[in-house]
Amino acid sequence: MASFPQIRLRRLRRTEALRSMVRENHIEVRDLIYPIFVVEGKGINEEIVSMPDVFRYSPDNLQPVVEEVAKLKIPAIILFGIPKNKDEFGSSGYDPNGVIQHAIRIIKKTVPELVVITDVCLCEYTSHGHCGVIDHQEVDNDQTLPLLSRMALSHVEAGADMVAPSDMMDGRVKAIRESLDNKGFNHIPIMSYAAKYSSAFYGPFRDAAESTPQFGDRRAYQMDPPNAREALLEVEQDIAEGADIVMVKPAMAYMDIIRRVRDNFNQPIAAYNVSGEYSMVKAAAERGWIDEKRVVLETLTAMKRAGADMILTYHAKDVAKWLKQL
Ligand code: PBG
Repeated sequence: MASFPQIRLRRLRRTEALRSMVRENHIEVRDLIYPIFVVEGKGINEEIVSMPDVFRYSPDNLQPVVEEVAKLKIPAIILFGIPKNKDEFGSSGYDPNGVIQHAIRIIKKTVPELVVITDVCLCEYTSHGHCGVIDHQEVDNDQTLPLLSRMALSHVEAGADMVAPSDMMDGRVKAIRESLDNKGFNHIPIMSYAAKYSSAFYGPFRDAAESTPQFGDRRAYQMDPPNAREALLEVEQDIAEGADIVMVKPAMAYMDIIRRVRDNFNQPIAAYNVSGEYSMVKAAAERGWIDEKRVVLETLTAMKRAGADMILTYHAKDVAKWLKQL
């Protein structure tokens, strides 16, 4: 291979026009999925303290935000529900008249073209805040599966376009796939939170969704952060069970996992730029320590470079606006 002075890699960096001609990766509006928190009640529109510019909306207040998202050409949203009533089995999560089911019907009526994905997990609906049924102080895998299936089915019956199980029970993709197929919903895709780590970066989300476990933590079902090979096993299992899209979560501290999944599988990959990643950037930007727009675009482009096809991010609306100005 030739070398300096024949090779001067700086030649193609001289101007923006040249740089853009050789740019390898891009973040685009069509890559984005915007998370929305829906709280049961009426007339609610409250900012989440630990997540600046992110709100909890009651179903009757969703119209402006989903219209804005659709107008910005963001293709999809993912919904999280905060119910009034919680119990041991998270039954408000699969109530056909529950907060999410209600929200889906309103959104599909308002902006039918917007892809509505729903988070499927019990933690926001259980009194103990765990992602499954508790038996002898532990989350029981197999007792949880039928409840997750019921929840997924109720979302799809209300009009959801895609379901996204985030509970990390073994076998949940298979259970959900079977129950959707049995009811004639074999065309509805599953985006599985396949490699979901037990992460400290979910802190602000748990404030937002009121889903902090009342005892213990999630380490007995979510993945141990030091593990990478295990992520490939999780992804392999979920694909075998019928996952259409696989997710890596969180994203920033797990770029190597996104890359390894990309190199080993051909399914589309979603990266979840989680609440703690969002709030760190917002806090530093508020203090004037970093340039928010540049940091966000750099980070999300890095997720694409690592191999993600789509990104769930609370920055989605801002990114869509910034990309329009570029
Ligand atoms: C529900 C769920 C969580 C997140 C998405 N779905 C929280 C958790 O597992 O504790 C986190 C999202 C974020 O931090 O932005 N199980």
